[in-house]
Formats: sequence, C-alpha cells, structure tokens
Amino acid sequence: MAEEYYKEISIDGITPELFPNVAVYLKTGGTNYMLYKPHGSQMTADDLERLQRRSEFIYVRTGDMEEVSAYQEENLANLLGRKDLKSLSRGKILFQICADYTGEVIESPPKVKEVGRCRNLVQQINWFVSHDKEAMAALKAVAAVNPYNIVHGVQVATLTLLMHSRIFPKIIGAPLEDVGIGAMLLDMGMALGDSDPGGSAGSLSHHEYQMMKLHATMGYDFLNRMGGFSNATLSVVHYHHERYDGKGYPDHLNGEAIPKGVQLAALCDSFTALTSERGYRKAVTTEQALQTMKGSTGAHEPILFQSFEKIVREVKY
Ligand SMILES: [Fe+2]
Ligand SMILES: [Fe+2]
Repeated sequence: MAEEYYKEISIDGITPELFPNVAVYLKTGGTNYMLYKPHGSQMTADDLERLQRRSEFIYVRTGDMEEVSAYQEENLANLLGRKDLKSLSRGKILFQICADYTGEVIESPPKVKEVGRCRNLVQQINWFVSHDKEAMAALKAVAAVNPYNIVHGVQVATLTLLMHSRIFPKIIGAPLEDVGIGAMLLDMGMALGDSDPGGSAGSLSHHEYQMMKLHATMGYDFLNRMGGFSNATLSVVHYHHERYDGKGYPDHLNGEAIPKGVQLAALCDSFTALTSERGYRKAVTTEQALQTMKGSTGAHEPILFQSFEKIVREVKY
C-alpha cells in the first residue's frame, strides 16, 4: 500500500529554509506520487509558493520521517507562535506532529526512550489548549484523518491537560506535564506482545478481553524498564483502567488510592473512546457519551465527573 511508504505533511507548517533536505513528493491521485524535489536539494521560498498553489500537502518517504520529525519538533514553538497562520492551521500542525510521534512509538516502542520529545510535545499541547479557542476543532480535524490507535493518546493527553489545568490550576509545570506524558502513552502496552485484540471484530471473546487487560501492566513495565519516567507518568499508564469503586484493573485500587491525575486521564480515556469511531462500533455524540459514563455508576468520583462534564460542554468537544 502506497500509504506505508509516503507520509503526508501539511504545507502550512513549512518554513522552507529550515526544511530538511529530503526528497519531496506530490500526490498525483490515488496511490500515485511524483517526485517534486530530490534528496539533497534545499527547499526555497519559491518552491513553497509553487507547492501552496498545487496542494495542501506534500509527501516524504517514511524512511525520511525521522529527520522531518526532528525538524518539526524543534521548530514547533516557533510554528505555534506564527501570526501569519490561522489558529486552526497551527492546531492541526501541532496535533498531527503529536500523532506522528505516537505513531512512531507504537511502531517502535523503544523510541519512548527519548522522553524529552514527548515532554516537548506535551508542553506545546498544554500551551496551545490554554491559549487557543480552536484547539478542540483542530484536534477533531486531526483525529478524523488518523487511525484511532495512533491518535487516541494525543486526544487523551490534550483533554487531560485541558481538564487538569482547569480543575487543579495550582498544579503546573513538570508535575502537570508528567500526567500529560502518561496520558499520551497510556495505551502503548497495546503495541507490546499479544495484548492488541485488533479491534476489528464485534465484542471481544473472554480470552481476548483477558489479553487486552494486560496492556496497562505491560505498558507500565515497559516504561519502567526504559527509565526516565516519573511516578506520576507511570501511574497514569498502570492505573488508567482502575475504577473509583475498586472494580477496575489491574490492582483493584479504589477511591483516593487512585491519584487524581490518573482519575482524570481515565475519564478522558473513556470519553475519547466513546466519541470515536472504532472498527466494531460507531462514535456516539458528546451527550450520549456523558450519559453512558453517568450510567456507569461507581466508575468515577462523582464531583470530579461533574467538573469534567461541565468543561466538556464548555469546550464543545
Ligand atoms: Fe487503556
Ligand atoms: Fe484507551
């Protein structure tokens, strides 16, 4: 499949002088791509103008993505500060870069070792959601064009950071970022071993369900082994399926034994999963998702849920 060999990049976010000297392609329809600029030649302002007239996107080979990602992540703060770009475009660039990162980690889990990359992205998301009203619209637009398993962590992290800074405004800086990092990586255990049920069939068999449940512990063990992650981050990954009434997994923690940041990430995780289209069921609306979550008595702490509900409605996610 051609999509495996070419990666789409939004032209909006390109600063020609800073773009790495990788080969650039244009899509000519279907699965056909045409070389626009060979490897080794610098992109110019003229190129950019010409490209902008032709398409919204350029394509690079997936093998060159590492170089492109490094460039994009280094320049993210500048990009988000560019006044010539519309808010929605800035948001789309940010969330797509985050989805590229989570995609890389799912494909090659040891990449999480570069903890600084994840922290940088979480910092930028945190800044963006607190400064830009288009943040949620941009996130939705990016979620619509990326596979669920890749974009899910970005959605959970974004929503968790937004909720966290509204509900616990005194927690800022590294402690908040640590929760965001955990939220971004919370399902990465699915990419390890056999815990990924595929999600294409209808309801899961008992065995598949048991295997799927391992993802929280597998993700936690893996990140713990890699090192560099704080306890707050590790707890989010380990305990995001615990329930307030103690009926969750893996350790049946209950009540306030589950850290607040984890409780919030768990709420955002359930909400995001319900409002996304999955292989085996359709997405539900915000109101339907809130009703379903309300019906799941005991899963969440009631006061925290109320705050969550209020903010979700306010930001119109
Ligand atoms: Fe999960
Ligand atoms: Fe999840």
